[in-house]
Amino acid sequence: MHLTQEEEQFLNGEHGEVTARLFRLLVRLGDIYEADEMIPVGSVQVAGVSYKSVGDPGLAFLEDIADQEAKVKVLTFLNPAGMDLEDWKEIGFPKDFADHQLRIMDAFKRMGIVITSTCTPYLAGNLPRFREHIAWSESSAVSFSNSVIGARTNREGGPSALAAAICGRTPKYGLHLWENRQPTIQIDVEADLSFTSDYGALGYTVGKQVKNKIPYFTGITNANTDHLKSLGAAMAASGAVALYHIKDLTPEADLVETKRLEKITITQKDIDETYQTLSKGEEPDIVILGCPHASLREISLLAEKVKDKQLKKPVWICTSRMMKEAADRMGFTQIIEKAGGKIVADTCMVVSPIEQMGYKKTGVNSGKAANYLPGFCKQEVVYNNINKLIDKVI
Ligand code: F3S
Repeated sequence: MHLTQEEEQFLNGEHGEVTARLFRLLVRLGDIYEADEMIPVGSVQVAGVSYKSVGDPGLAFLEDIADQEAKVKVLTFLNPAGMDLEDWKEIGFPKDFADHQLRIMDAFKRMGIVITSTCTPYLAGNLPRFREHIAWSESSAVSFSNSVIGARTNREGGPSALAAAICGRTPKYGLHLWENRQPTIQIDVEADLSFTSDYGALGYTVGKQVKNKIPYFTGITNANTDHLKSLGAAMAASGAVALYHIKDLTPEADLVETKRLEKITITQKDIDETYQTLSKGEEPDIVILGCPHASLREISLLAEKVKDKQLKKPVWICTSRMMKEAADRMGFTQIIEKAGGKIVADTCMVVSPIEQMGYKKTGVNSGKAANYLPGFCKQEVVYNNINKLIDKVI
């Protein structure tokens, strides 16, 4: 692999031992995927933030890097942590868990990483431009940035993203190259898609069928960005799809080659069956929305739905701290809290220890959360659209 003079200095330890160690990791990765050079990245998003995911070994690794005073070179955001970093006591997160989580956040902060903790960095102040090379980790954020924004990233692991942040580089391979961004299968959608959960069901269905391919969709005409983040998150979870194109909707769709693609059709029956597959129960003991993290529009929809009502079961909506601030200012937080619900920032239903908090049946409108909750959090899932979920707990 060709390395610049500065990159040779990274390897030789002239920029410190941590940089050398992490740059070696990037070079090894580049060698495996036959990259011929490194490219500068515009921003990084690091996963592996929740204490529930990284445990004590992850905490020790991060503290070691921070203790050696390594600093990131580019704007770097974090994936959700395991708890609301401000209201964790009030919501009931265990103290021991919180102590470890706060040490993880401190280590990241000492590296110069922005303590954002969100899987929707593009809504919270880290918005890449079209065709910008970035190194992001979280699968739904990777999908959104590649597909909806047209930025370029592989799905980084926690350590390779951290290495990209400290070195400001990533090896040039995979989805950084135009030839690898061409669709490999066409999906003709013949179904009525109205709710975010419909897009989650579509994403789950397609992901299961296409595994690792790059879908080119037709028949999706009026999806908004909330729908697209739900679609991409579910496809990434069920089929490791990191990039999709939608005819007349996503920025690279007009530029790619679509002749001679294998085609499959998704019908209303497929979507209905997925709702049934994902929903194992009827009565949730908690409803958690905001996977991926909720936009202000999604928070406002919940506020509208619960205004002047009283919830019989807990309802959370997970989001970034930035979005919660905006919701506070708009009065949405107050409406939701008056009804008995909660805007939970910095975390989500999958990476927080909800099973330790006594919850067993969770209602969600996200195909990704429905996919992960049974395995990661031992939850029985109730899958439906926001209206039907809230009706169950009012
Ligand atoms: Fe985000 Fe958690 Fe879903 S990280 S995409 S809210 S599982």
